[in-house]
This record gives sequence, structure tokens and C-alpha cells, in this order.
Amino acid sequence: MGDKTREVEVTSMSLQRPIPRPGVLDIEAYVPGKSEAPGAAQVFKLSSNETPLGPSPQALAACRAASHIEDYPDGAASALRAAIGKAFGLDPARIVCGAGSDELLNFLSAAYLVDGDEAIYTAHGFLMYPIYTLARGATPVVAPETSYTADVDAILACVSAKTKIVFIANPNNPTGTYLPFDEIKRLHAGLPPHVLLVIDAAYAEYVRRNDYEAGIELVATSDNAVMLRTFSKIHGLAALRLGWMYAPDHVVDAVNRIRGPFNVSTIAMRAGIASLADPAHIERSRAHNEKWLAWLTAEIGKLGLPVTPSVANFVLIHFKDVESASAADAFLTRRGLILRRVAGYRLPAALRMTVGTEEANRLVVAALAEFLGKQS
Ligand SMILES: Cc1ncc(COP(=O)(O)O)c(C=O)c1O
Repeated sequence: MGDKTREVEVTSMSLQRPIPRPGVLDIEAYVPGKSEAPGAAQVFKLSSNETPLGPSPQALAACRAASHIEDYPDGAASALRAAIGKAFGLDPARIVCGAGSDELLNFLSAAYLVDGDEAIYTAHGFLMYPIYTLARGATPVVAPETSYTADVDAILACVSAKTKIVFIANPNNPTGTYLPFDEIKRLHAGLPPHVLLVIDAAYAEYVRRNDYEAGIELVATSDNAVMLRTFSKIHGLAALRLGWMYAPDHVVDAVNRIRGPFNVSTIAMRAGIASLADPAHIERSRAHNEKWLAWLTAEIGKLGLPVTPSVANFVLIHFKDVESASAADAFLTRRGLILRRVAGYRLPAALRMTVGTEEANRLVVAALAEFLGKQS
């Protein structure tokens, strides 16, 4: 044993309690969207990008029909992977299911990051990327955005010899902006082949742009790209925790080695399969969103509050300063309208609002008008 090793051991032996690995105590724990508005008669939760239409009735029926919950689930998620494969025209062998796409992000970080590595994400990118990066002792590297949108050149400029993963949410949360497929391809083409491009397409179903592609084609034709999807958003199954990944064989193999054997519950899998079998429900949710996303963007804009153009199921509303955003949040919350503060995303003067029911959307616009009237 070398002197150095002995020294480290002696130092560890003198510690008075267990110490987390480097990076862990640098993490600011994720703060989920608020769900309570004390004193409000009626509460509209518009803080977590959940669907106002709820899940497919068929998915609910599948949950209610669940029996034999004393048995472990199918650890291979065979029926669900077959259903996803059928719905999207994919080889089920290249799909891995997770307890939410969050869990898959964690698996990918565990499989590909070691101490001292770097993982790139964008300035207003989804906060779980730096959290999982730090948890592995790696360093999150922040690529600047342009007009609240990922900037391919800025991301490529951040690539170093230490880079192992590039995380990109497309569309991004909380900005709602997206990169056209050509730009995603340009990003991929600029990365060294050993860098994994993680395309997180949690909101893909909402996008109505013909230059958008969720990532399937790139994953199918390359060795270093994966696409993540979720049942939490348009499928309305957030409480069940269900997501999936489409990836090259070797990534599937690596992730399956570290995945817990029963990471997805039987009820979640059944509900996922039932939801995929009800495309009409998804279409209703998409149509609702398309209508009200445009309406909210226009109406809030008319009040003089800039709204970042969004292709997802939420809008980012900009206030004149941090105090105004904070006051608006408090004002709305008192009326039972819960939006999301996004200071943790380097957007302290903005609020994110999920597209809600017609009633909720109209109430927010009316309340914002009242709030601004009081401010002026
Ligand atoms: C961009 C993005 N990725 C991933 C997730 C995680 O979704 P889930 O773990 O519910 O699948 C979210 C949830 O808000 C998200 O916004």
C-alpha cells in the first residue's frame, strides 16, 4: 500500500460521521412546483406542466383493474416496450423504461459520468441535468442561450476533452423554445463520437412545427444519441412515474446493467399501454393545448408582459423585475392560481404558467390584468 493511500485511509478513519461524495453537497435540491394556495376557495395548479385534461379514461380503467399487486412487475417491461415499439415504429429491444424519464436521466449519468468529467447543459435547461451531473462528481458546464433558446455553436464551444454528455431538452423546460431537427443534427455532427447526446423530448407530443423531430431518426442512425420520452405530460400519468428511452444497443445494455430489476410498477405499465391505445385522447389534449397556448400568449402579451414563444404546454411570462414577478406570484396564489417561480433556472423575473383549463386560463389573464392595474 502506498503512503498516499495510507494517508487517505487514516484521514477517513478520523471522520466523525459519513461524508457524501464530492459534488453532492453542492447540489441545490430540486424544488417542485407549489401545489397549495392557503385560503383560496378553488385551486388551479399550473406549476408542474401537468395536463388539464387528465389521463385517458382507458388508462384510468387499467389502473382500477389492477390485481395481484402482491406479484413483482415484469422487470423487462416486455408488453410496454412492445406497445411503444408498435406506436412509434421502433425496435422494442432498443427501448428501456424508467420510473419517469427522471430515472433514466439518473441512469445515464451513473453509466457515463465519473469524477472530473463534464456534462454540458444550457443556461435555462432542465434543472435535473446539473443535479445528476453533480451527484456523479462531474462538473455541469453551462452553455449560454440566445433569446432563451439553446445555441448549437455555444454548446459546441463548451466541449472539452472532459465532456462526456450533452443534455438538451427539446422543447426546453421552462422556456418552451425548441431547436429544429437541422440544428439538432448540426449539434450531433459537431460532437466527438464518444460524447453522448441526450435529447430529452418530454414535451414532444405538443410540438406543432414541421421542422421538429423528437430524435428518433438521429438515434436510429448514430451510436451516441439517445431520446427520452415521458408519460407524465400529455399522457397525464405523472403520478405513476413512467418514462422511456430509445437508444443504441450498447447504451441499452449499459443502462440495463445498473437499472433496478423492478424499476417500473405493473400499474404504471398497464396504464401506459392503455394510454397508447387511446390516441384520440392525446389528440384532444394536443388540440386543447394548441388553442390555449396561442390564446394565452396573445392575451398576456396584450397586457404588456412579454411571453417567450412556446411550442410546449406552458408559457414563460416576463415581468419588469424580480420584485414584480414575486408580487405577481403572491397575488395569483392568493386567488388560487399557482404558477411556477423559475429563479433556479436563472429567470428570477419570470413566472412559468402551464396551459390549464379554459376557466384557469381566463382567470389567470384576468388576475394579471388586475395585478398590473394595481401596480401602475
Ligand atoms: C424537460 C423535462 N425532462 C424530464 C422531466 C421529468 O419528467 P418525468 O420524470 O415525470 O418523466 C421533466 C418534468 O418536468 C421535464 O420538464
